Parts: sequence; C-alpha cells; structure tokens
Amino acid sequence: MKLTIPENIASITPYPPGKPIDELEREYGISGSIKLASNENPWGPSPEVVRVLGLELSNLNRYPDGSCYYLAKTIASKFEVDPAEIVLGNGSNEVIEFLVKAFVREGDEVITSHPSFLMYQKFVQVRGGVNYIVPLQDMKHDLETIHETISEKTRLIFLDNPNNPTGTIIEPLYLQNFLNRVPEDVIVVLDEAYVDFMDAGSRVDITTMIQNSEDRCPVVLLRTFSKAYGLSGLRVGFGLMAREVASCLHKVRQPFNINQLAQVGAKAALEDEEYFQHTLAKTRRGLRVLAKGVEELGCISYPSQTNFFLIDVRGNGDKLYQAMLHKGVIIRSMSSYGFPDFIRVTVGTEEENTRFLAALADCLTDLGYV
Ligand SMILES: Cc1ncc(COP(=O)(O)O)c(C=O)c1O
Repeated sequence: MKLTIPENIASITPYPPGKPIDELEREYGISGSIKLASNENPWGPSPEVVRVLGLELSNLNRYPDGSCYYLAKTIASKFEVDPAEIVLGNGSNEVIEFLVKAFVREGDEVITSHPSFLMYQKFVQVRGGVNYIVPLQDMKHDLETIHETISEKTRLIFLDNPNNPTGTIIEPLYLQNFLNRVPEDVIVVLDEAYVDFMDAGSRVDITTMIQNSEDRCPVVLLRTFSKAYGLSGLRVGFGLMAREVASCLHKVRQPFNINQLAQVGAKAALEDEEYFQHTLAKTRRGLRVLAKGVEELGCISYPSQTNFFLIDVRGNGDKLYQAMLHKGVIIRSMSSYGFPDFIRVTVGTEEENTRFLAALADCLTDLGYV
C-alpha cells in the first residue's frame, strides 16, 4: 500500500481509547473492577429512559426524524430558547466538530487552554487550522492571555466551563468582561458539559448569552446528556446559539445525525427532573466523601464543580494508576495532561467510593508516597 497521508493528519495523536473492562480484567487477571475514569454517571439513566427505549426498539426499521422535532422542542422549553437556536450532535463532540467544520479554514486560528478537553485541538488539526494553546493559570482559564492571543485569523475560542480535567470554573464577571472585549467575528464556545454540577450562582444566563450575540462576539453553549443525565452510551449533546450560527452548523451535519433511540431517550431524560435532581445530590455527596477521604490519606484534593476531581498523590501518578488497576479500580493518570503527580477520579456509587478509598490507601502505602 502506498498512502499519501496529509501532514496535518499524520501529526494527530489519536484520542486514547480505554479498553473494554472485560478485556482489562482478562489482561490483569482480576474481576469485579470499577471504572472511575471517564466522568460518567455511575447510577445509569432514569428508569423512565430505559422504559421508553424498550418501546422504541421495534421502530428501528425507520430513519430517525432528521429535525429532532420533539427533542428540540423539549430542550427549547426547558432552556427557554427557540428550536432554531439549538443544534443537536452525536455527543457534544459532534457539535464541536460542526463548529470547526463550519468556521475554520486552512490556516485559520483557534485558541484553547491546556489542559482542557482534548478533542477541540484534534478537530482543528483535521481542518488544517492552527491551534494556539494557552496554559491554565492557577488551574483556571487565563482569559487575559487568551485575549492577547486573538489575531485577525482567530475564528474560535473554546473554554470548557467547568474545565476538564481541573474541575474549576470561570467567575461570571471575569467571563463577562472578557466577552465584552472579544472581536465580533470570533465565536466563543463555552463548553458546559459539567454545568449541571456547578453552583447555580456561578452559571451564565443562557438567554442573555445568546441574545447578546447580536452586538458582540457570538457565544455558543455546549451541553451533553453524557454526564449528569447518564447517557454517555447513547451519544447526544447539543449547542445553544444564535440562529445565524445554528444555520451554518445545520449545513455541515448529516441529515440523520441523531439516531432514533437517542432522540427518545434524551427527551425522557430531560423530562425526569426528579431522577436528575437525585443524581446531582448523590454526586455532590460522593464528591465530599471522596475529598475528605483522600485528604485523610495525606493527598491533596482540588475543589471541583463537576462529578470528578484532581488529586495530588505526591508521587508518580502513572505508577499509582497501574497499582490501582491491579486492584480493579480504574482511574485516570494525569501525566499526559502535564500533571505527573496527579490522578483524576470520577464520583462513583457509595460502594465504589469506599472501594476506591481502600485501594488508594493500600497503593499509597505500597508505593511509599505518603
Ligand atoms: C469538557 C468536555 N466537553 C465535551 C465532552 C464530550 O461529551 P460528549 O459525550 O457529549 O461527546 C466531554 C467528555 O468527556 C468533556 O469532558
């Protein structure tokens, strides 16, 4: 085979896929392992979601509704926007891809922070765009340096708020002040994948964000059903934005990008407010228990407004990750994010949290970290 691989594609490091748990267990000779590595919801989707998905299975001979009419209508009423201001994606990942496809040409510039969600930069590389990467400052987005980095070629700025992997947020006034200074032709994407876990007082007002796009830089808000709603496997996310921006994204998407099960399941998830609130309460409780537990073990935990948090284990994070794996506890080492002494852990069920703390205690002692 003689392939001509474009330089921008050859230089991409693929997103590191986790192995299926069954495979890992076979490899390590363990069983009953738990995964606290991907910021998923450990309690699963609402029973009502499971029920409606079952009912929908016999309709899979039909193409889904390409406009996602009912799901978009439910989102519109919940978030007080117009359906024309919504673009749905196969996970919010796909909406990120649409934004880059629609607005970034070869040589155009996109600004992201480091570390933050890895996919922004990859989509830009695929388009032949240029990534400008601004390091976080004190674990937070450095909006001053980001502002200084804007040039005439800047098309998009991605800000995950809260940030993955640090769990930190952008103070609303700091953000507002920044947005007021961004040129009108630069789109600011606020990726709110974890917004549901945030303190209500720190969230931005969606309507104001979108409507203010009229006389300043457009703002796109990204949301996902993968985290608080427990639907990572269904793949549904959406963006809220001015209709002019949305109409560009609709031009670059496939006609049936949201499958039928995803449409029905996501709608049911949004409608089950009680289950959603239970999930949030349990997550917050779990986060408090875990943070206290790791501090008692001599590690440093970083405050987070998400369903995960960073832990400074005061020793090599990769080694700890391996040791935890042998005990059947899957976490994320943060060395590839530039934090060699850190791990990232997602809140699990009560039993999973207890098991994590016990395994951590053993591994820290075995490795002689604390
Ligand atoms: C900050 C952030 N944005 C977006 C995503 C993608 O989520 P989705 O499952 O909706 O594609 C993730 C997933 O982990 C994330 O952490």
